Amino acid sequence: MADLRTNFLGIKSPNPFWLASAPPTDKKYNVERAYRAGWGGVVWKTLGEDPAVVNVNGPRYGAIHAGDRRLAGLNNIELITDRPLELNLREIAEVKKAWPDRALVVSLMVPCEELNWKSIIARVEETGADGLELNFGCPHGMSERGMGSAVGQVPEYIEMVARWCKQATRMPVIVKLTPNITDIRYPARAARKGGADAVSLINTINSIVAVDLDSFAPVPTIDGKGSHGGYCGPAVKPIALNMVAEIARDPETMGMPISGIGGIETWRDAAEYIALGCGTVQVCTAVMTYGFKIVEEMIDGMKKYMDGHGFATIEDFRGLAVKNLSDWKYLNLNYIAKAKINQDLCIKCGRCHIACEDTSHQAITHMVDGIRHFEVKDEECVGCNLCVNVCPVEDCITMEAMAPGSVDPRTGKVVPAQYANWTTHPNNPSAVAAE
Ligand SMILES: Cc1cc2nc3c(=O)[nH]c(=O)nc-3n(C[C@H](O)[C@H](O)[C@H](O)COP(=O)(O)O)c2cc1C
Ligand code: SF4
Ligand code: SF4
Repeated sequence: MADLRTNFLGIKSPNPFWLASAPPTDKKYNVERAYRAGWGGVVWKTLGEDPAVVNVNGPRYGAIHAGDRRLAGLNNIELITDRPLELNLREIAEVKKAWPDRALVVSLMVPCEELNWKSIIARVEETGADGLELNFGCPHGMSERGMGSAVGQVPEYIEMVARWCKQATRMPVIVKLTPNITDIRYPARAARKGGADAVSLINTINSIVAVDLDSFAPVPTIDGKGSHGGYCGPAVKPIALNMVAEIARDPETMGMPISGIGGIETWRDAAEYIALGCGTVQVCTAVMTYGFKIVEEMIDGMKKYMDGHGFATIEDFRGLAVKNLSDWKYLNLNYIAKAKINQDLCIKCGRCHIACEDTSHQAITHMVDGIRHFEVKDEECVGCNLCVNVCPVEDCITMEAMAPGSVDPRTGKVVPAQYANWTTHPNNPSAVAAE
């Protein structure tokens, strides 16, 4: 049976599933129940200085729902912990003592002054916690006060604060990055330059989730007004995966430990982050939606997947997808695929035909000999995959690669066996010899 134990920066946990810094980790009561449910670790809800911040007393969440009312994206205007520092520190010490085998990382956010960072770190040291996560991510409320993403958007500040923190502690330091930036590689490089041991990402994405069309106020609405908030949940996973991938393949940050965060609901989501190089993953929205127990299925599913693939430990497949990340210009232009419809599965809804007819290459029939029939015309199909994505029946349409040597009926040309990309294509005005 697969062994899920992880060692991230020397922090050991029975599995790679950690809870992200957020409401599920804001107190001993929650964290202990999370551990009992099986979570391998937690990042405690971000601590700040006393006096504690004050949250709004009205709605602090908004959401985007899929057609079946499943929560696709969550937006929040919550700040860091609003509990006294002393109370949090006491509970952290108690929890760590009672649960020595679980990871307990403490998230911090204080004003951007050396003394402020060093004095809070000294207090966290006394709790016996396993590590620190520097919250340079929150895009709302705290950023207006010069903290959170206001720091995370300036690589020089990241480097400076990471360096202060590393000088002040024996604990590993993780820098939590904001996605609210044009190119994630710059803050990640700055974290490394500052001596950070790892990065975690993503924090929430700056957003307005909806506008109420009766009150004409953004949602969530507090006494008639609304403010931008942080977006997370399943909808942000693709953005987070890309950012993780960018860091994993950047020569300047390659190999730096990463804790992956963003839209993780299932073992499969987690495995994708691990395949992109993450040593642990962190979860927030899925637990806020479905509760702590989802970790049971995550553990079970991950073990079955690993057993099925012969992976004994997480390290056996961590990072395996990194070598397959490519720039567009290196994709094989001689690879040719065609859509194929399984007539036994087709329910004749016609969505593939409409999509292909109106926005792609008019390559799917809808009537043959006066009968409703959906079939791909290979002589028109460019293999774009749109029909696969709009078809309501899973695996009803598949993409099939053409064998080298066969003739593509669309172009009348033989499919070449050799790889060729845009860099050497005759249509490319700046074509260069293949590297
Ligand atoms: C209500 C709420 C509060 C959050 N508070 C914090 C926080 O205090 N510190 C922090 O680093 N991240 C905070 N986050 C961000 C999460 O830790 C996580 O980075 C983000 O939600 C993406 O993960 P997810 O898609 O699994 O939710 C918060 C998220 C939510 C929804
Ligand atoms: S792959 Fe694209 S072009 Fe081919 S049938 Fe589907 S939608 Fe049309
Ligand atoms: S979208 Fe799928 S199910 Fe609907 S007609 Fe096309 S192939 Fe058939």
